[in-house]
Amino acid sequence: MPVPAQASTSLASQRSYLRIAGGRRLHGELQVSGAKNSALVLMAACLLSRDTIRLRNVPPLTDITGMGDMLSSLGGSVHREGDSLVLNGADIHSSTAPYGLVNSLRASFFCIGPLLARTGMAKVPLPGGCQIGTRPVVEHVKGLKAMGAQVTIEHGVVTAVVPGRGQRLSGARMHLDCPSVGATETLMMAAALADGESVIDNAAQEPEVIDLAGLLIAMGARIRGAGTPTITIEGVERLHGADYAVIPDRIEAGTLLLAAAITRSCLRVTPVIPEHLGAVLTKLEEAGCRIEHDGTGLTLSAERIQGVDLRTQPFPGFPTDLQAPFLSLLATAEGSSMVCENIFENRLQHVAELQRMGASIRTQGNTAFIEGVARLSGAPVQGTDLRASAAMVLAGLAADGLTDVFGLEYLDRGYAGLEDKLTAVGAWIERIDAMALENEAPTLSIAA
Ligand code: EPZ
Repeated sequence: MPVPAQASTSLASQRSYLRIAGGRRLHGELQVSGAKNSALVLMAACLLSRDTIRLRNVPPLTDITGMGDMLSSLGGSVHREGDSLVLNGADIHSSTAPYGLVNSLRASFFCIGPLLARTGMAKVPLPGGCQIGTRPVVEHVKGLKAMGAQVTIEHGVVTAVVPGRGQRLSGARMHLDCPSVGATETLMMAAALADGESVIDNAAQEPEVIDLAGLLIAMGARIRGAGTPTITIEGVERLHGADYAVIPDRIEAGTLLLAAAITRSCLRVTPVIPEHLGAVLTKLEEAGCRIEHDGTGLTLSAERIQGVDLRTQPFPGFPTDLQAPFLSLLATAEGSSMVCENIFENRLQHVAELQRMGASIRTQGNTAFIEGVARLSGAPVQGTDLRASAAMVLAGLAADGLTDVFGLEYLDRGYAGLEDKLTAVGAWIERIDAMALENEAPTLSIAA
């Protein structure tokens, strides 16, 4: 069994680290890639059709490679043409998602809805928890049951079956206990091919949900209300192919804007859809940043940064995925800040790493209380999840001296060539392969 492409890339990422020399001003323009959290679910949606689908603006990330491996294992075909992926779900020959692939990429659990709607059956391992929380899928399962699926969970595997030969799921009214992004997306995809009308109440309103609706509608689905708390889906019998562009990654855009703010620089970030970052832009301006919109991008400039308070909320509130990167900025602000993480139960692990860089932060439950310091000091630090790793890179840009950021196996899942983008606007960052250095050591010692 060949090693999936994602696994070998991830091994290289685990051996490497980023060495950052901080304290440099940045200048110029940063390009935002396609949205990871949209592309992943759009890839899963391609299982709903027997026709070819072209997804444009798909970022080259290890998570995308992982989802491609998942679709291939089910019989789908996936190949890259430049910044596009060409996918075809005609030859789905399996309804069982392999444990190893689901375990390495939680988002592959998205396949359960399309597989069930398309084949009448799906066996997908529970995605399990991760560093930031238990990540349950209760809402996903409740909704599939409401649409008529028989769902059991045994030995860590969710088995969903539509009873009766060749039967379809039935439209249903579903109310989510919490506005789960993944549950909303899973149930939208399942309902798209169901018999009758479905309504999802208390649906997630994230831009990625709207993007998924955009692709499904382009494939012939009948969906109203995406981006509001109530989404109505009129099921159809078949979905056809489409050619669809993924939205820009709002979380990467926010991270790049924070790179300008934390280095007290002026940078243009493009493309950005400002409505996707409303709460974040408001907080950046409250902290003292000046932000100008020019139709396709945003220019942020910052001299002095004041402390602010923020609470993460479902969209349109402040996004949990920018909590860690924003907290790095607040560690360097003048005055006090409070950051409350309301979405995930364990998403303050980056605080300990920032403290090792001299940040003055106290935590109490899911809240961090920050006293800004004039300068962080460079140190070896560990990213513990995708966004915490990005937060460490930002802190390194602002710190005195050298910062070595480990945890690139997380960073590379969500940021395409972050160090290259930042180096191009004046940062000093090197990706160092620790293994290569060790291999070189013997010759170096002989030379010495
Ligand atoms: C998506 O995860 C994103 N991932 C996450 O991005 C993002 O942080 C999250 O939405 C929130 O915006 C992808 O889109 C691939 P949820 P998802 O279901 O769908 C609770 C990143 O860094 N919940 O909206 O798994 C859950 O425990 C990643 O790019 C239930 O209680 O998030 C969590 O506390 C991290 N029961 C909250 O809802 C359920 O049945 C939000 O989870 C489902 C979820």
